[in-house]
Parts: sequence; C-alpha cells; structure tokens
Amino acid sequence: MAASQTSSAPSYTSALTTFLSSIEEFAGSLSQLEKEIPADQVPVHGDRWHQQVLAAFEKSQAACREFETTEGITQPQVLEAQKLFRDRTGHWMEQSWIAHRSRTKPSGFAGDYEMLLKLYEEATPACGLGGYIDLCILDLPLARAVRARMASVRSFLLTELGRRDGDAPVRILDIASGPCREFLQWPAARSQRVEVVALDNDPQAIDYVSQHVKPQLPDSTTMSMNRYNALRTRSAENTIRHFGKFDVIYSVGLCDYLTDEHLVGLLHGWGETLNEQGVLYIAFKDTEQYDQTPYQWHLDWFFYQRTLQDVLRLYEQAGFNVHAMDTVRDATQIIVNFVARKVPGAIVRLDSAEAQPRRRRAPGTAGTKVQSSTASSEGATEAS
Ligand SMILES: C[S@@+](CC[C@H](N)C(=O)[O-])C[C@H]1O[C@@H](n2cnc3c(N)ncnc32)[C@H](O)[C@@H]1O
Repeated sequence: MAASQTSSAPSYTSALTTFLSSIEEFAGSLSQLEKEIPADQVPVHGDRWHQQVLAAFEKSQAACREFETTEGITQPQVLEAQKLFRDRTGHWMEQSWIAHRSRTKPSGFAGDYEMLLKLYEEATPACGLGGYIDLCILDLPLARAVRARMASVRSFLLTELGRRDGDAPVRILDIASGPCREFLQWPAARSQRVEVVALDNDPQAIDYVSQHVKPQLPDSTTMSMNRYNALRTRSAENTIRHFGKFDVIYSVGLCDYLTDEHLVGLLHGWGETLNEQGVLYIAFKDTEQYDQTPYQWHLDWFFYQRTLQDVLRLYEQAGFNVHAMDTVRDATQIIVNFVARKVPGAIVRLDSAEAQPRRRRAPGTAGTKVQSSTASSEGATEAS
C-alpha cells in the first residue's frame, strides 16, 4: 500500500487502519470456519455453517463499502486496497468455485458461459467452506437478477413471436448468446417457423449449446451457432452479408462489459440490421439498483456502472428516438431491458453513428469506470 502510506489525509489513514483490521477479522473468521466445516461437506442452504459464512461475508462487504466511500479516497487507492484484500483472502475465497473462476478468469473475463450456468442452476461443485461461500454468492441480488433477466428475455421472445404472423420465418439474432438457456423447453409453434442465429466468441459455449440446447428444440425452431466477435456486428453491412437481416435482435449480459464508444457503434449497427417492424432488446444493469461491493472486492468482477439515463444517452448518440423506446425492468428491478422498435420515427437513420459527436465522461463517473481485467469483450479480436 505504497500510495496509502504516503497519503497525508487523516481520514484516509484512519479508514485504512480500520479496513486492514477488518480484513484480518474476515480472514480469522474464514480460517476458523475452514477448520470447523469438513472439506467434503456438501453445502446446505440455511444451516448453521451457511449462516456463519454469510455473516462473515456480509460484515466484510460492509467494511469494504465503508472504506471505499471514505471521503477523499482516490480510485488508485481503492484499486490498491482491493488487490491487497483479494491477496489476503485468496486462500479461503478461492475455495469457492465462483470466486475462483471470477478471480482467475480462464476465459478472459468473469461472466463466461460456465459461470452463467452455475448462476442459472444455483449449483456449486465446491464442498466445505468454498461451497458455503458459493451459496452466499448465488444469493446475491445480482445473481438473482441474472436469473430474472433470463426469464425476462424468454418471456419477451415468446410474446414477440405471438405478435408476429405470416409465412416467412421469424428471424432472431442473439448476440453473445452464452448457454442459450432461454431456449430450454422452447414451445413448438403450430405454423410459425423461427430461425435463431446465435453468436458467441467462446467455442465452449457453442459446443454446450450444440449438445444441450439445440437438440431439444422443436422442429419449428432452427438454431445456428456461430463463433463470431460481437464487436463486428457494429457493421450492419457485415452482419447482413454473413447472416441476413432480423426481426428480433437481442443481447443480454454483454453490454455492461463494453465502453460507451463501442456501444454507440454497436447499437447503431444493430438498429440497421433490423427488418422493417423489427425490434431490438438489450439488457443493462442499473447501477442505482445494486451494490457492486462483493463483485468488485470479493470476486474481481467489474461492470461499467451506468444509470438508465446514461444508457438512454448512448441510444440517442446511436441515432435512436429514445422517446419512442420502452424500458422494462426484470423482477429484481436491477436489470433494465431497452426495447426499440423499427417503426417510422423510432430509429432515426444516421449516415454513420461514427460521425456523431460523442460525449466522453471524465474517468470515474458513471459509464466510464472500468477495471482493465474485466472487459475481455473489448480485447476480443475482430478476427474471431
Ligand atoms: C454474461 S454471458 C451472457 C450469456 C447469455 N446471453 C445469457 O444471458 O445467458 C456473456 C457472453 O458473452 C460472450 N462474449 C463476450 N465477449 C464477446 C464478444 N466480443 N463476442 C461474442 N461473444 C462475446 C461470452 O462468451 C459469454 O458467453
């Protein structure tokens, strides 16, 4: 903590002292629990060990939050403290399957399809202390929001299909499709044909969907899985050349990892890839509705923090008439789904979103805050 030691702010120094002792207290609790909980114990929701692990986890979150909100603390000081916290707690926290995966990021970023599967299935392969930490993480508001978000998109897709008729198949583009859980137990339509084109750059996600999701689809629905970098879809011309135009385009779980600059180009490109009467459905987390502390401190899992208004500004910059858009929250209120329909006046055509002046925010304000270790989407190559 070199920067902290040279800081002269008394409130910072005392906050740091308090915080360091809270880390030791958390480490002490975890160490004690590690001794008490048999290593092969399958975690049981609500038992006394779950309650004790949860109490320690929540107390630690409160300490991290208090430190982070200390008046005058700088972003580098927070990042430095987060690293120290994770180093000191690594031995215990990384016994959790989820914390280990989010801290080590084997796919390059925390929210990969295997992580999503664990959140959807509310299951952990970990036993002992790590299994109990996983139970606590699976109950965090954002983990519940991920499940609610999937339920919302499934319901949206089914409602949308119900609104459409005609002989031509309804074409759906799923961008950053992950495990495609929304298509499990997908109902057969009597006469409607549905063509799903799913894009993801993780070959393992594609294999999973090919093996577990695609084979159980009814005959009326076809699905093609494609390894494709979502960032390439900012060019509508490219997407249309490869995959055609779509009646429904959606993306869930990707945009919170992307910069404003990427998003403006992508939203514009997605609008241009819609058929007439098409609809665009994009999910974002509302920073005002959840606490980032356990993700950023305990898991090393960062998202761009945006309010609903921040996202609407991006749509405006991408050429959308935001007054003609709907915003629909999921059951937890944390996720906002932005729905834009391609009807006259709803999506204003621009020659190029790139030509629009872009407002950049000062570092540290909503919509720009990021931890470099998270945003693999931004580092993904155009070639994939
Ligand atoms: C949080 S998961 C969401 C998956 C799925 N949409 C869902 O909600 O269950 C994010 C997905 O985005 C994919 N992804 C990340 N960056 C990508 C990129 N640049 N191009 C394509 N897929 C990407 C990951 O492989 C992962 O499957």
